[in-house]
Amino acid sequence: MTAERIDGRLRAKELDSRVTEGVSAFSEKVGRVPGLAAVLVGTDAASQIYVRNKVKRTKSVGMLSFEHVLPETTTESDLLSLVDDLNADPRVDGILVQLPLPGQIRAERVTSAVSPEKDVDGFHIVNVGAVASGVGGLVPCTPLGCLILAAPFFGGDFAGVESVVVGRSNIVGRPMANLLLARRATVTVVHSATRDVASHVRGADLVVVAAGSAGLVRGDWVGEGAVVIDVGINRLADGKVVGDVNFEEVSGVARALTPVPGGVGPMTIGCLLLNTLTAALRREGLGDPDIGLGI
Ligand code: GUN
Repeated sequence: MTAERIDGRLRAKELDSRVTEGVSAFSEKVGRVPGLAAVLVGTDAASQIYVRNKVKRTKSVGMLSFEHVLPETTTESDLLSLVDDLNADPRVDGILVQLPLPGQIRAERVTSAVSPEKDVDGFHIVNVGAVASGVGGLVPCTPLGCLILAAPFFGGDFAGVESVVVGRSNIVGRPMANLLLARRATVTVVHSATRDVASHVRGADLVVVAAGSAGLVRGDWVGEGAVVIDVGINRLADGKVVGDVNFEEVSGVARALTPVPGGVGPMTIGCLLLNTLTAALRREGLGDPDIGLGI
């Protein structure tokens, strides 16, 4: 078997055009366009690239972009007061503060200062709790992107799907497990203390890997016909970027597999924009976007 290569760039383009249509419909109804504020503190090279891409994509779907770049030496209270201003700004529907933050700033203070209604990263404890209890909230972007990529392979219905999530992080593993559970999948979360990770992965119809370990998942770990979503982004010594899955080996066994780069990555920003549209519609009392994502 040669696995279908899931084209995340193409799927993200489709998502962006749905969001663009949603933005037009919103502005016709409300008389303004949704706005997203992006806050970058310091000069971390990877964060600069992420924020630049987020700003570019925000503008490309017709939303207002508010970019705030603060120096490395910014104090926690200065950042909190910017977040307060953005919470109060009626033009701003979504706020993202790029992580990691410099050492003098406690990230959890900042994520809990963002108004839950504007928390388009889904990091505020109110949204974490809402997602964990399956009652909505704003959903973290990367797991939402994984769900959208996987949905067509299960006819949009995850009920009874044997799912294994590799990794238990707050940004990906845990919310991923909760989103699948809310859709009645059978979910196992494996991690660095799991005795035999491969034995769990082997029985799965759906494997989502967010372990941060290059090439961790080997071909003989994966069951015939599984759908494999690779969240990992690892830069090797030679500069090559690879995922957490051994792509060549797993391609020979899986039904479908996301590449790295070009798989989950582009979907994450797409979901940030989708969350911003969702936040804007909810703020205006207009409900959730209906853009047919099959989830
Ligand atoms: N740093 C790495 N991933 C993310 C993300 O999804 N959101 C934010 N704000 N920062 C990040």
